[in-house]
Formats: sequence, C-alpha cells, structure tokens
Amino acid sequence: MSYQNILLQIQDAIATVTINREKAMNALNPDVLREIKDVFTNLTGNQEIRAVIVTGAGEKAFVAGADIAAMSQMTPQDAQEFGKLGHAAMDAVDQCAKPVIAAVNGFCLGGGLELALACDFIYASEKAKLGLPEVNLGLFPGWGGTQRLARLIGKGRAKEMIFSARILGVQEAYEFGIVNKVCKPEELLSSVRAVAAEIGKKGPVAVALAKRVIHEGSDLSLLQGLVKERESFPKCFETEDLKEGLAAFLEKRPAQFKGK
Ligand code: CAA
Repeated sequence: MSYQNILLQIQDAIATVTINREKAMNALNPDVLREIKDVFTNLTGNQEIRAVIVTGAGEKAFVAGADIAAMSQMTPQDAQEFGKLGHAAMDAVDQCAKPVIAAVNGFCLGGGLELALACDFIYASEKAKLGLPEVNLGLFPGWGGTQRLARLIGKGRAKEMIFSARILGVQEAYEFGIVNKVCKPEELLSSVRAVAAEIGKKGPVAVALAKRVIHEGSDLSLLQGLVKERESFPKCFETEDLKEGLAAFLEKRPAQFKGK
C-alpha cells in the first residue's frame, strides 16, 4: 500500500510515522486511519525495526482529532464503520510488537490523544496541548479514549477531562502521568530518537514480550497478571539473544542482539 496521508521514514532501525495532513491539523479521516492500520500491521512483522515513533507534520499539531468535516457527513451507520476503523487503527498501534513512542509536537486532541494513548508512552513539546474535547461537539471519545485514559490516569481525572473538555497544558499533562517527558520544541524529535535508539539496543524479543505481558496483565487481576509473566519469562530462554546477552555481560562487552 502506498501512503497518501502519512510519511514513513526508516533510519537506523527506527521507523518514524508522520501523520501528514498539515492543513487540516493532521485530522484523522477514514483514509488516514486505514493507512495507520496498514503501516503498523507491516511494521509489527518487520524484523529490521527496533522502535517506532509517531508524530504530526508541521509545527502546530500532532493530530487535532477525528476529521470533523468528514464526520459532519456521516449517518449513524457510517459512524459505526468509522468507529470500528478508528478502533482497528488504534489497536494496530497498541498491539504493534515494537515499542511505539508518541512525539507530541502540538495540539493533541480527541482522536489525536487517543492515538498517542495507543502508543507505549508519550514525550511532548512544551507547546503541546492535550485533551479530549469531543463533548464540545456533542460526541464522546470513540477510539479508546474512555478506556485508555481512565486506565492511565484514573477514572476521576479522566472523567473530569472528558466531561469538561478541558485542554491541558503540557506541564499538567506531565503531572497527570499522560506525558513521560516534556521537551523544548526543537529538541522533541532528538529526545524521542535518543530513547528509541536506547531501547533499540536491548533484546528485541525481551522488549516485545515485556510489552505483551504488561498489556495482557493490565486487564487482569495481579495474580492472573503474575501468571502471564511467569508463563512468558522462560520464552526468553528459547532465544539466541539471551545467550548473547548473558555472554556479553560475562565477557564485559556490549551485547549484539539479533531479535531471535
Ligand atoms: N477535523 C478537521 N479539520 C480540522 C480539525 C479536525 N479535528 N481540527 C482543525 N481542523 C482544520 C480547521 O477546520 C482549519 O481548516 P481551514 O483552514 O480549512 O478552515 C485548520 O485545520 C486550522 O484550524 P483552526 O483554524 O481551527 O486553527 P486554530 O489554531 O485556530 O485552532 C485547534 C486549532 C484548537 C486545534 C482547533 O482547530 C480545534 O479546536 N480543532 C478541533 C479539535 C477537536 O474538537 N477535536 C476532536 C475531534 S472529534 C474526535 O476526535 C472524535 C473521536 O474521538 C473519534
């Protein structure tokens, strides 16, 4: 599939997916959602890739939400399809076997925050503004925001944000635990690339298994989650990477992981 609305750049085993509809604040219409789903499905099986960065084109917006102009034409049946497609795109990000980092460079609203929440963690520019303002439109967050935000920051804060449509400055988003790190705008991408590169040096199978166990466990009781961890831990012992990691430690040299 060739992409019309996203840019895919691969460098040093790090893929950068840029949502590229700058004139519409990178708003997500059905075509963009299909491309996001497709690119993440492909990246998940790409052995060369160690980490993925998601960002928005231009200086103003990460993604300003679902495309409001497109939604204004939708029947309830169309909206059902749009909701399903949005979920499928966010799930492809969430379930990508690679670590996925959101580089939030500006407005990150509605479906844009839902996209960032589907990533593994978020770094944001000092200029970023984050919120779920859907109720201003007579809508509520429909691509995972009600669930992922509440799980990340707790129900009380999520409800306040969703019911009031209040848009947070980046410092408050950091204090809430939505954003892991606040960066100067000109340093955002280099900071995200640096953490992606650091993660990329680690054992890829171990990182992917850790991601899966964290995801599966967060929907379970602690005891059930611990069972998942216990079941997955020995899988590392089936990999060449573990042998390499242990040998490298004992030989006092950096490990060269192959992802197998
Ligand atoms: N959809 C479609 N177009 C959008 C858009 C969106 N979500 N957000 C911005 N745009 C477009 C504007 O219509 C405008 O286009 P024109 O130049 O053709 O008029 C262009 O982007 C620039 O936007 P503004 O002129 O509004 O720029 P601003 O700097 O004054 O304001 C903003 C920026 C605060 C982000 C404002 O554009 C805004 O509030 N956007 C909507 C945010 C929003 O409500 N998002 C939630 C959408 S619903 C959703 O996401 C549902 C879901 O959960 C699935």
